[in-house]
This record gives sequence, C-alpha cells and structure tokens, in this order.
Amino acid sequence: MSLFSLLRNLLVIASVSQAALFTSLDQIKQFDYDFIVVGSGAGGGAVANRLSAVKNFKVLVIEAGLNTQGVQDIIVPGLAPLLVGSKFDWNFTTVPQPGLNNVSLGYPRGFAFGGSTAINDIFYTRGSEDDYNRWASVTGDSGWKFENLHPFFFANEKLVPPSSNRNVKGEFIPSLHSTTGMVSVSAPSFVTSQVSPRTLEVTTELPNEFPFNPDMNSGKPIGVSWLLYTVDHQGQRSYSASSYLGPQFLSRPNLDVVINTRVTRLLTTHSGSVPTIRTVQALTASGETFTLTASKEVILSAGSIGTPTILLHSGIGDANELNPLGIKTIVNLPSVGKNLSDQVSVGLSWITTSTDPTDGDTANTTELALALAQWESTRTGPLTTHLNNHLGFKRLNANSEALKLFGDPSAGPNSPHIELVISPGQSGATHLLNVRATVVTPASRGSVTINSNNPLDKPLINPNFLSSPFDLEALIEGVQIVRDFATAKAWNGFVTAATGPFANATDTASIKAAIQANAGTVFHPVGSAAMSSPNAQFGVVNPDLTVKKVTGLRIVDASIMPFVTAGHTQVPVYVIAERAASLIIQKWT
Ligand SMILES: Cc1cc2nc3c(=O)[nH]c(=O)nc-3n(C[C@H](O)[C@H](O)[C@H](O)COP(=O)(O)OP(=O)(O)OC[C@H]3O[C@@H](n4cnc5c(N)ncnc54)[C@H](O)[C@@H]3O)c2cc1C
Ligand SMILES: *[C@@H]1O[C@H](CO)[C@@H](O)[C@H](O)[C@H]1NC(C)=O
Ligand SMILES: *[C@@H]1O[C@H](CO)[C@@H](O)[C@H](O)[C@H]1NC(C)=O
Ligand SMILES: *[C@@H]1O[C@H](CO)[C@@H](O)[C@H](O)[C@H]1NC(C)=O
Ligand SMILES: *[C@@H]1O[C@H](CO)[C@@H](O)[C@H](O)[C@H]1NC(C)=O
Ligand SMILES: *[C@@H]1O[C@H](CO)[C@@H](O)[C@H](O)[C@H]1NC(C)=O
Repeated sequence: MSLFSLLRNLLVIASVSQAALFTSLDQIKQFDYDFIVVGSGAGGGAVANRLSAVKNFKVLVIEAGLNTQGVQDIIVPGLAPLLVGSKFDWNFTTVPQPGLNNVSLGYPRGFAFGGSTAINDIFYTRGSEDDYNRWASVTGDSGWKFENLHPFFFANEKLVPPSSNRNVKGEFIPSLHSTTGMVSVSAPSFVTSQVSPRTLEVTTELPNEFPFNPDMNSGKPIGVSWLLYTVDHQGQRSYSASSYLGPQFLSRPNLDVVINTRVTRLLTTHSGSVPTIRTVQALTASGETFTLTASKEVILSAGSIGTPTILLHSGIGDANELNPLGIKTIVNLPSVGKNLSDQVSVGLSWITTSTDPTDGDTANTTELALALAQWESTRTGPLTTHLNNHLGFKRLNANSEALKLFGDPSAGPNSPHIELVISPGQSGATHLLNVRATVVTPASRGSVTINSNNPLDKPLINPNFLSSPFDLEALIEGVQIVRDFATAKAWNGFVTAATGPFANATDTASIKAAIQANAGTVFHPVGSAAMSSPNAQFGVVNPDLTVKKVTGLRIVDASIMPFVTAGHTQVPVYVIAERAASLIIQKWT
C-alpha cells in the first residue's frame, strides 16, 4: 500500500472524452423523470441502462460519489489496492466486533461513479446454482432460479480475449459464457510463473481434496479453477460506469446521471394506508437541497449500507428504534437494516524461494514502475489482473465438527463452505505464497442502524463477525484446508516455511486466537433489505423487489439478497438488476 502510494505521482491521468454527466442538480433544466435511481454501482448502473433503453422512459441516476472517468488508479486493474481508503471510499468502519477482540474494522464501499465496482477486485464469480434456487424457494418466486436467470447472466457478460491474447483454452467452458453482454470479462492476461503451475499440480496430486474444475461459473463451483476477471481486451477495469453507464449510453437523451449529489431522505408523495413514496430529497456538493418526484418509481440502489441508511432516515424501519431518534415512522418495517450478512476471512502465508519479481505481488517499487510502463505501452503484464490466477472452492468434510454441531448453512450440495484465494505475495525482499480462507456461507447476522436523525451522520455497521459458532468452527477447519493445500508435494522446492500470524498456531486454541486477532471482511455485505415471500412476516422487499407496505419504491442492489452467494457479489448484483429491469419494463409497458 505505501509502496503504491509512492508511485502515485508517476501516474498519468488518461484523457477520455467526457460524455454528458452532471455534477450538480442545478445544471438540469427539466425534472420530468419517470424513474429516479439512487446509486450508480452494480445495481443502479445496470437498471438505469436497461430502463433508458426504452425510449419513452426518462431516467435520472443520482450518485453521491466522485467522477471516475479517466482516473488511472481505477482503470488499471492491478492498482486496486490504492483505492481502499482513498477519496473513492466512503471510509466506513464497523462498530467494535466482540467476535474479533472488540476491534472496529475498516469497511470499504465505493464513493464513486460506478459504486463499489469502481474500487473492487474484479473477480468474476457467479456463485452456485443452489444459491439462486434457495432465493427462489424462500421467496416463492421461481424467477430467481439459476436456470431462469440464465438470460440475465448472458445479458451482463461480454467474454473477450485477454489483452495479451494468451491462449486460454481449457481455462473455462466457452458455451457457459456470453460474448454479447455489457461488462467485459476475460481470463488472466498475465499468469504467475510459479504459483499458477504449482496450483494446477496440486489438483493432479490431490484430486479428491482439490479437484480441477474446468469452469467455476457453471453453477457447480467446487474445485480449483482458473479465475475470470471483469477486465476488457485493453487490459482495463470493466465496471458499472464504463459499461452500463459508458459514454455511448450517457449520450442517450432520456438518461441523465448526476454525481456529487447525496440522497438524504425519501419523502411521502401521497399518504394513505399504503403510502406512495417516489419523492427524493437530495443535497448537492454546494449544500443546496432539491426535492424531486419520479412519475413512475424510485429505485434505491445505494448498496447494503446506503440503502437501509436512507430508508431509516425516511421513517421506513422499526418504529421502536425510529421514535427515540425523533424520526416519524412512515412505515413500520422492522426488518430494515437487520440480517446484515458478510463473509469472514483470514490469510495464511508461507515463505518461498521465488526470485521472480513478477511472482511477488508487484510490491517492489522498481518492479511496480516497470509493470506500469508495460501496462501503458502494451496493456499487458502483472497490472492487467490481480496475481491470484485461481480460486478453490470446497465443502467442509461430511464429518466436520462445524456441520455436526451447528448444522449446514449452505444452500445445497453444490455450494462450497470455504473459498481459497491463492496468490503470490511479497514482504520486503521475502517472496510469499498467500492463501486466504473465507467462509462463504456465513451464519452470523448483524445490522445497519442509525443513532441520530441527521442523514449525513455515518450509520452504525455491525456485521457481527464470528457471532455464530458455525463461522468460527468453519474458519478453524478452513485454516486446516489451506494448510493441506499449501503443504502438498507440488510446493516442494518452492515453499520453505510458514510465516505470519498463523505460523506458530498449531493447536486449536492458538488457531482460534489467531483467527480472532486477524479475521476480516472480503467486502460482500448483503441482506440488510432482504427479499421474502409477499406474505412473510419479515423482510423488506417482495420477490419483485418492490418495498413492502408502500407503492412507488423498489430496491435493486446487494441488500436484497436473503443469503449471500457462495462467492463474490458483483455478478449476482448485476444479474439482480438485469432481472429487476425486465420486471419494471413489463409493469410499465
Ligand atoms: C474493496 C472491494 C473489493 C471487492 N471485490 C470484489 C470482487 O473482486 N468481485 C466481486 O464480485 N465483488 C467484489 N466486491 C463487491 C462488489 O463490488 C459489490 O457487491 C457490488 O458493487 C455491490 O453493488 P451495489 O449496487 O449493491 O452497491 P455499490 O456498487 O456499492 O453501489 C452503491 C452506490 O450508491 C451510492 N450511494 C450510497 N448512498 C447514497 C446516497 N445517500 N445518495 C446517493 N448515492 C448513494 C454509492 O456511492 C455507490 O456508488 C468488492 C467490494 C469492495 C468494496
Ligand atoms: C477517505 O479517507 C481518505 C484518507 O483520509 C480521504 O482522503 C478521503 O477523502 C476519504 N473519503 C471520503 C469520501 O471522504
Ligand atoms: C468486548 O467488550 C465487551 C463490552 O465492553 C466486554 O464485555 C468484553 O469482555 C470485551 N471482549 C474482549 C475480548 O475484550
Ligand atoms: C432474518 O432472516 C430470517 C430468515 O433467514 C427471518 O426468520 C428473520 O425474521 C429475519 N429477521 C428480521 C428482523 O428480519
Ligand atoms: C526490487 O526490484 C529490483 C529490480 O528487479 C531489484 O534489483 C531489487 O533487489 C528489488 N528489491 C527488493 C526489496 O526485492
Ligand atoms: C514462531 O516461533 C518461533 C520459536 O518460538 C519463533 O522463532 C518465530 O519467530 C515464530 N514465528 C512467527 C511468525 O511468529
């Protein structure tokens, strides 16, 4: 991180043509929008694109964050570590986490045109078919089944050759992928010289524990696969603001995007036993307040933290919690902000004999400068991707203590419990093998709440990490899985010794202590405005994503997932938005 910072000054800001993008609401002449979309991330960008493809719909996107067009730290995929804690990050922190020795963790979210897709780690993972089938079964809406979402996965994905034009045969199954969608996806342009081939060797050495999976995006992710990235053929990040809200769409006469503008509250448009809520209050960077009404719907796509925060400040939430803050309850909807769910993760490290500087996370400033020059001149090299070319997904053993004692929180037999992220690393001159274990089926549930009636105050974020005993036990077993992987013969002559906080943690008590001292987020919060069946006594939105007990308001972002998918969350959110747009268009045409 600090090495990256040193290089900041060397970065040249690319000049791109600026399409119509407003920086303040006072630049807009006529407020006759059919739809107002709050947030330009994965959910908001995709839904705004699809709605504005209908010529007689007029769409406004309101985004709190900064412009990202032409920002090189965002465009160059390998510079992503610069973005956490930057001006493109909301810089949230969690409340002290009792499961993690009471520490408050940083909790990054994109404060950016493009939302968190502007700052994320570009992994393309769909999750398992069981994940979506569970959404269908808990909501009673078969439209959420994996097979029924197929057209939306394809509408989202545009598979392209990697910028290096490397031969990627065998790294994914072409028929499972679309080449005609919106977000560019590619196999790694650059492959590590040691960690990738040795990882593949583990799959032949230990085929029962770590089988090779020819494509983790088939709906059956278990095994070790090549990782695809949301990176285009020019080696650039492909994200909500460059794809769905790219210049060719911003030029549509019926689509406006305004950045630097924060939605503070939703207001009642018509009161009644079922109030109509399609009016937003927004604050410009210069402190001016605007009140805007959509003629058809307001769509909240402010993400798992932003969406419940806006709802609570609007008086949509648990009346017992809103009243003491002096917020008048418009709709008593106690589930708003509840059931926040996030995956919990730890990293293990081993010292390696590598002398290849590009097999070392470009942590060396000299190497980083070379890599950046290579990216600029040929759009190839280590900065075109992250250096983790492979992921492993694994179920806990059938006789696992976690499963025996606490039950199975996974969505089904094709859903993994543990993800392994396998990468080279470097600390000073020491080269490392880093393998991260993540519980992708967490059982802990937390909340997003507020403690004042000032919408500009930060919300209280409580992922409640390791509050469920399943998560701690599963992570202890995940550490063992990582060790089984990293001590395979395939690493002989490369891995020399364990290092880092787990190096000396051999007995269960010290592994547990190392977990509690080191576990953190992998940035996949969901569930804080979850969908449930229309007659459920809990939940925030119906299966068509309309907010319960009101009209005029929908939610289209990660907050609606009742359970997190067993993988990374950007693709599921894009797919949620693709389906939402199709439901909205059906309703209004
Ligand atoms: C550091 C990091 C790394 C990640 N890595 C990966 C990865 O490798 N692969 C993967 O699949 N997923 C990854 N993710 C997760 C993925 O990016 C998110 O799941 C996804 O972007 C969520 O989409 P969303 O629409 O729900 O929210 P976001 O994309 O976060 O968009 C929400 C938008 O709403 C705006 N907003 C919030 N409040 C307001 C308000 N009051 N007024 C106006 N606008 C508002 C925000 O500024 C933001 O632009 C990562 C996330 C982070 C933070
Ligand atoms: C986040 O923190 C960094 C470092 O302090 C700061 O530069 C940046 O402006 C902050 N982001 C926001 C949105 O305020
Ligand atoms: C965390 O804080 C709570 C409340 O202050 C306290 O009871 C508990 O002992 C603390 N736990 C640790 C591990 O410090
Ligand atoms: C949280 O989700 C569970 C279902 O997974 C549900 O039974 C419970 O009522 C929810 N809690 C709230 C407060 O919404
Ligand atoms: C950084 O890279 C340069 C060039 O490859 C090399 O000479 C130097 O030893 C490296 N420094 C460290 C700390 O690895
Ligand atoms: C592990 O323990 C040994 C012996 O006590 C010590 O020398 C070494 O520094 C420890 N390693 C780490 C990474 O803490």
